[in-house]
Amino acid sequence: MWPYPKVLAHRGGGTLAPENTIAALRCGLAYGYKAVEFDVMLSKDGIGVIMHDPDFGRTVAGEGNVARTPASDLVRKDAGAWFGPQFAGETVPLFTEFIDYCRSQGIWMNIEIKPVPGHETDTGRWVAQKTRARFSEELRAGDTKAVPLLSSFSMEALAAAREAAPEVPRACLFDTMPAGWQAQAAALEAVAIHTNQKHLTPELAQAVKAAGYGLFCYTVNTPERAQEILAWGVDGFCTDRIDLIGPGFAGCGG
Ligand code: G3P
Ligand code: MG
Repeated sequence: MWPYPKVLAHRGGGTLAPENTIAALRCGLAYGYKAVEFDVMLSKDGIGVIMHDPDFGRTVAGEGNVARTPASDLVRKDAGAWFGPQFAGETVPLFTEFIDYCRSQGIWMNIEIKPVPGHETDTGRWVAQKTRARFSEELRAGDTKAVPLLSSFSMEALAAAREAAPEVPRACLFDTMPAGWQAQAAALEAVAIHTNQKHLTPELAQAVKAAGYGLFCYTVNTPERAQEILAWGVDGFCTDRIDLIGPGFAGCGG
């Protein structure tokens, strides 16, 4: 049911490195992490880049918006200096560069499709098509464990991903699970439900598992909470605290 690693580094390296950068992946690797969650959105010219916020100002200095900036400009932007001077020069990664690095290091990926509002369909389609192309061998071989899992808060993006590349697995991502979660997951042929650990209850966890879906939570930052939700049947989670929770967290099996 859950063929994937159980503990993932959120945004590459959690809170130990600038999010969604290659430096974050290196940091995760240094802590033994070989599984990661990260966010993808499209540039003005329709190229996937690894960013969480559609607007500049937090991880990237200045004013601007990913959807109004060509990829050639985005990749020159510093995405590390905000976090610390030792990370200055770390740039916004292209999606293809980022997943190729993960592949080269044997890092499994939960790819969160994070469309800039208004770009749900094109982002879902682009990410699914690129993922299928990059993992064509693994898909052909039925190597489920090696193929990334796509997730999104945008059901529209997931629908576009399904239409473009139905064989790349999908997960519905919810902050609070809506009453109709099961119908949405069925319509999207999702394999898993990803949800905010804050709002999860043992009853909801049981319902997800009884319906046959994988269950994954974000963002679990203490070993105690990890232990608690795993006991409810949660299959996996991502964490910001890769220093507190190891990739082989007790009972998880890594
Ligand atoms: O994919 C789980 C989690 O990353 C969703 O929240 O805002 O950190 O992308 P956010
Ligand atoms: Mg995310």
